[in-house]
Amino acid sequence: MVTPTDRLNRYISRAAGVSRRTADEMIRKGRVTVGGKRELDPGLPFDPFRSEVRLDGNLVITVQEEKIYLLANKPDSVVTTMSDKEGRKTAASLVGELSSRVYPVGRLDYHTTGLLLFTNDGDLAYKLTHPRFGVEKTYVAKMKGVPTPGKLDVLRRGLPIEGVLTNPAKVTFLEAREGKAWVSIRIAEGRHHQVRKMFEAIGHRVMKLRRVAIGPQELENVEPGDWRYLTGKEVRDLFAYVEQKEREAAQAPKTRNGIAAATPRERKGPRQPKPEWKKPPKGPRPTDPSRPAKPRRRPAPAKKRPAG
Ligand code: URA
Repeated sequence: MVTPTDRLNRYISRAAGVSRRTADEMIRKGRVTVGGKRELDPGLPFDPFRSEVRLDGNLVITVQEEKIYLLANKPDSVVTTMSDKEGRKTAASLVGELSSRVYPVGRLDYHTTGLLLFTNDGDLAYKLTHPRFGVEKTYVAKMKGVPTPGKLDVLRRGLPIEGVLTNPAKVTFLEAREGKAWVSIRIAEGRHHQVRKMFEAIGHRVMKLRRVAIGPQELENVEPGDWRYLTGKEVRDLFAYVEQKEREAAQAPKTRNGIAAATPRERKGPRQPKPEWKKPPKGPRPTDPSRPAKPRRRPAPAKKRPAG
């Protein structure tokens, strides 16, 4: 989409149908003018509605690309890529003819089912998937055995997975039947196999995993293996949610890699039980005869005044 503050390389790349790198080269070679002046900086922010851009002297106009937002209900045994060397069923097959225009937002494991968004809006896809924005994803996990409330609390507080503490998760016990349990878990991270590893860490192997929501978007009105366009309201709600996440990320302290820094609690790990400690009774401290008396602190010597 053309925005009031576009970047020159992005604009040229879209208009000329070339890669960003080729656009960079065209600009650096001096083939591009902005408002009549040769421009050599590919990252130049500019307003395409105010400045006239020319490539080799020819006026450059971009065609506004129609944005597409859709959701699919991924079945089991589908890879979330658009092609697969091993010949497995891919995400492309889920969206049929539209597969040349859209790509999946983020990934699901081969055996994870449920909500998968597709779009050609790179900006939205970036914000939905970059860990810096902390977009929440909700899953329903079916597992072997029935986890105790204490074990679910461990997930809520955060636990180390491969040496790195997970952020607190929102966990809701749903039901237990025939020695199996269903638990809903909402996380704002997307590490590889994260949900499966979290349950594994508390001693429960996930048998089935289904994603049921991304931010405000729920898996609704779509059968497994099928897809549908998001409604206007769903797109607006998704944008409002992402904008809110963007504001929060802008306020959070940053680290070098751009991911919001862990809070002091995240760095320290789960809260430890406090040691038993009672307030000592009021009055003078009882002296311990086995200890030598503590020397009193001498008053600090007065500072010498400079002579003069
Ligand atoms: N967590 C997992 O373990 N698998 C997924 O597909 C998504 C989240």
